[in-house]
Amino acid sequence: MATIELSDYKVCEKALLEPDLEQALYDEGAILMKKVLVTLHGQEHRDRRVLEMRVFRRNFFRHYEHEVIPKVFDEVVQPFVDAGRADVVDFGYRVMVYLAVAFAGIDLQTRTREEFDELVGMLRTFGTAATLGQSKLDREAEKKKIAATLKRFDEQFFTPSAERRHALIERFDAGEIDEDELPMDVLTVLLRNEDKLDIDRDMVMRETAFYFLAGAHTSVHSLGHVMHHVLSWCEAHPEDRQRLIDDTAMIQRFVHESFRLHPSSPVSKRKALADVEFLSGDTASVGDTVVINLHEANRDTSLFGDDAAEFNPYREIPKGATETGITFGIGIHSCLGKNLAAGTLPRAGEVIDPERRQVGMVAWVAQALLRCGAVKDPDNPGHIDPTIARETWAEYPILFTKNG
Ligand code: HEM
Repeated sequence: MATIELSDYKVCEKALLEPDLEQALYDEGAILMKKVLVTLHGQEHRDRRVLEMRVFRRNFFRHYEHEVIPKVFDEVVQPFVDAGRADVVDFGYRVMVYLAVAFAGIDLQTRTREEFDELVGMLRTFGTAATLGQSKLDREAEKKKIAATLKRFDEQFFTPSAERRHALIERFDAGEIDEDELPMDVLTVLLRNEDKLDIDRDMVMRETAFYFLAGAHTSVHSLGHVMHHVLSWCEAHPEDRQRLIDDTAMIQRFVHESFRLHPSSPVSKRKALADVEFLSGDTASVGDTVVINLHEANRDTSLFGDDAAEFNPYREIPKGATETGITFGIGIHSCLGKNLAAGTLPRAGEVIDPERRQVGMVAWVAQALLRCGAVKDPDNPGHIDPTIARETWAEYPILFTKNG
């Protein structure tokens, strides 16, 4: 079977819309990823996606941006500010874990530091499942570790969270509570619709773990790149630091440019279910693997110009492309969490009521870190993770200065 690699923006975009290509990126990580939304195809995928989209309504984003994110950020950041330093990667895991458990539908049981560290460890392990195809680690040993972690996740978090939701759903069905008293999360939606979806308990458990992963891991990765670009920019243009703190649309543009340069997964992978011809003239036969190189496509000079690989938040976005390129995918598997992660930018001249604005959690957190005085730690430069083929920060030390 052949492997076809596509890297021109327009070719990749069209390929992502091709119904005869099925998901193949997570085959190695099946132990967690089997039959979760992003690995389903056809009608089964459509049915589950339509249902899960119910969670991501406007009031969901409002609830997270106005209530959940500020509360979580304040709780997590304080000890780091007191210590005067943080590692953006470690800090990112802490913030994003709390946010991701909330929208996945996982209840914290003890709210202790130990429990929190346990969740961060689980997330890191689940992360290896999603990226196992690109990992340089011993894959069999990693699979065993993932299985053991899933079991602990089930016992410690999933089972009690599902039991609490089952009880609430029963009370709702009996007319004892209103719908708005049910939690606003993916697990609740799945449990209310188990019978319509032909989905067993293990699948619901893995789907919940997948959302926890999809929401947190990608955002931690993105926050590292964003902080690097933003802090480097502030060093070169000190006059822009305050503007980034005051101007939300400006920091969103910085974040979107960073998203374009650093998709969480550098490639999407598909398997051809029929013979397919691509815009480039390449063809795939049944069973061939198609690698859609998001990283390269987003740096396509024919579309984004000669400086496509440079960070330029003032770049004019060409017609037919978006600020974030194809980092969030498009088509049937396009990211359901895009607005939560990246928000939406007001159009030129558009004035949006701050109550209705969607900033996105990455820009929200980056701006809040600047407000706390974040600067690069001059004695400890960040370094990239050598254990994985994709470019991701292993550590990014920052200091909190009062007059940063
Ligand atoms: C921070 C940045 C994020 C990036 C860069 C990102 C990227 C992506 C990409 C590229 C895909 C498509 C995969 C493919 O075509 O094979 C995807 C799918 C998905 N993402 Fe995200 N994502 C992010 C955040 C989130 C968040 C916060 C959530 C959850 C709330 C989320 C939930 C999902 C889900 C459920 C899918 C599967 C959709 C489907 O298969 O129908 N993502 N994401």
